[in-house]
Amino acid sequence: MRATFKNEPFTNFQLESNNKAYDAALALVGTKLGRDYPLIIGGDRVTTTRIATSTNPASKNQIIGNVSQANASLAEEAIQTAARTFDSWKHTAPDERARYLYRAAALLRRRKHEFSAWMTVEAGKTRAEADADTAEAIDFMEFYAREMQRISKPQPLTPLDEEENQLYYIPLGVGIVIPPWNFPLAIMAGMTTAALVCGNTVVLKPASPTMVIAAQFVELLEEAGVPAGVVNYLPGPGSEVGDYLVDHPLTRFISFTGSREVGLRINERAAKTQPGQKWIKRVIAEMGGKDAIIVDNDANLDLAADSIVAAAFGFSGQKCSACSRAIVHEAVYDEVLAKVIDRTQQLTVGDPAAVSTNVGAVIDDKAFRKIQEYIEIGKGEGQLVVGGASDDSVGYFIEPTIFADVAADARISQEEIFGPVLAFTKAESFEDALQIANNTEFGLTGAVISNNRAHLELARRDFMAGNLYLNRKCTGALVGAHPFGGFNMSGTDSKAGGRDYLLLFTQAKIVSERY
Ligand code: SER
Repeated sequence: MRATFKNEPFTNFQLESNNKAYDAALALVGTKLGRDYPLIIGGDRVTTTRIATSTNPASKNQIIGNVSQANASLAEEAIQTAARTFDSWKHTAPDERARYLYRAAALLRRRKHEFSAWMTVEAGKTRAEADADTAEAIDFMEFYAREMQRISKPQPLTPLDEEENQLYYIPLGVGIVIPPWNFPLAIMAGMTTAALVCGNTVVLKPASPTMVIAAQFVELLEEAGVPAGVVNYLPGPGSEVGDYLVDHPLTRFISFTGSREVGLRINERAAKTQPGQKWIKRVIAEMGGKDAIIVDNDANLDLAADSIVAAAFGFSGQKCSACSRAIVHEAVYDEVLAKVIDRTQQLTVGDPAAVSTNVGAVIDDKAFRKIQEYIEIGKGEGQLVVGGASDDSVGYFIEPTIFADVAADARISQEEIFGPVLAFTKAESFEDALQIANNTEFGLTGAVISNNRAHLELARRDFMAGNLYLNRKCTGALVGAHPFGGFNMSGTDSKAGGRDYLLLFTQAKIVSERY
């Protein structure tokens, strides 16, 4: 634990020693592949007959783990267990709850490369992407622990002479946590530990492609001493288990990160009051993006190209923050496009475990086919200038792909692809570029590369993105520095990693006493 919050440093993979350490972690993880993972309900291991296999997206015949799948009756058991555990967990002191997070963060820091290596094999993350994910998971725990301690201190209220007034942030109850697979450690750990540090109990339904990483993390929480029943690990099919958990009358809140489609479904179902339900369920939903980088006519074009390539193709574009639209002033359009093509052609696509790989495989067969379909759509909507090829003979590899001269209302400009596909659109002016950028139902991230103060100020005011970046890429939000969440169909703008986040998992109680 550090004296004050500080982001976990990233590992420098230019250093041979760090690569050796990572190789050792990959070898260690290699000895643990193919194990069985039961459900964890109230600390008990529950093995079921229905098993789902998690595989390596870059080597699809490699089995990462065999994971027991819950059904509705086990979901019921998990909710009842979480509800019972809430009766005691809610009374633990906030400082004590924070200490479990400090401890878990310390344990994770010690086994950093091991957790990252799990992400390399289960999620297809390159070394640098996996390392950033683990660092963010550590950051979330360090940050939320301190935040819990901050908000449990006496809060400022207008003093009255006749009364003593106090505000307490008390927990909500049983929370359903449904995290995404694309930050399988960071976002999953952040969502789970934010809920529990506030005094709630959790049923964690991990994303199917990354159930093993989630299981490893739940075991880490156990090692950190988090009592049984506070976090219940419940993988299972969304249609059966997910709906059951969301609909349950004992469910007090749902914290979801994932697609717009699933987020809206959860929101609708949660809005329906069930017999015996005593509250309005709270939904925290972080969904998709169709994020744009605008390049102005006077911009630093190398900075623009670097930013676009990093944000479009990092982790194969499978980030809700990824740049999927480059909107470029016509005066510099050709030059920026040429620079981006050049840099993209230098990217190495391959096994994410290899030191030299820049772009790994996409997550699974479903994603592979969906991205391929969008590449076909793109061929009718723009000019394919780089990439376009794909190969799933060994793993789900798709080349970084760029379409030029795409209209602002084209499908590949409007629909979330969640893959390494970038659309270039020409703008007549900065104002036109801003209008094109805002012409989407999403509003998650965005960036502007410009040296024009008036244009930067205009973007500051009018660019509708929850996370707007000026003269830098639109991915890579840091906990504490860039609280993260989007507008409109991108979600409820929860601002994960920020000072408002924990309030979403609590309710405020005022006690006013006259003596
Ligand atoms: N927080 C991630 C980023 O900023 C996306 O989820 O890239």
